[in-house]
Amino acid sequence: MNHLIAPSVLAADFANLQRDIELVNLSEADWFHVDIMDGVFVPNISFGFPVLEAIKKYATKPLDVHLMMVNPDQYIERFIAAGADSITVHYEACPHLHKTIQAIHHAGAKAAVALNPHTPVELLKDILHDLDMVLVMSVNPGFGGQQFIPHTYRKIKALKAMTAAINPELHIEVDGGVSISNAADLLTAGADVLVAGNAVFAAPSPLSMISSLKHVSSEISSSI
Ligand code: DX5
Ligand code: ZN
Repeated sequence: MNHLIAPSVLAADFANLQRDIELVNLSEADWFHVDIMDGVFVPNISFGFPVLEAIKKYATKPLDVHLMMVNPDQYIERFIAAGADSITVHYEACPHLHKTIQAIHHAGAKAAVALNPHTPVELLKDILHDLDMVLVMSVNPGFGGQQFIPHTYRKIKALKAMTAAINPELHIEVDGGVSISNAADLLTAGADVLVAGNAVFAAPSPLSMISSLKHVSSEISSSI
């Protein structure tokens, strides 16, 4: 499976958002990763519906919306109306996860579950067959620009092994501290969607960085 690149809009220049969206449109990226933070589930607030709608107005690629919020259920239809093509909810924020996933699918979007660094992948065993994607957090959610947590490799490998029998089509996305230096190892471990915020938007050439991430090969990885 060819891997996908999802630049995280959180690291874009919000005063030049249209410019940065158009840059991603022109790039080899596959999706836009859009982080919604509520100040309760995570100790930070990002942005809400008006900004999501503004992104949708210019984006020519799917919007992969990552909800770092409590009680996401009450907003699912609004996020999809505002432009979300896929919605990721956090395992830790959803006591009725199966119901939440059904609601996302029923409203017409792809459905994914995110795991915080401390949450074992094994907890997803009885929901994996219903999901389009699992997002493995490789930092504690809430901020861009943090350091990658190496234990993530083991989680991705374990998740990949679980999905082989249950849901081989499932995407495994990794989010937090992803860069050109760990991309190959992440793909080798079993990830197939790389989210990258600062690695892309703080690069001298975001376009070249996206291209480099897109053309990383798992075959050249070494150290895991
Ligand atoms: C963190 C967010 C990430 C963030 C990644 O809570 O979920 O999507 O934007 O940023 P980088 O790639 O800079 O770690
Ligand atoms: Zn994210």
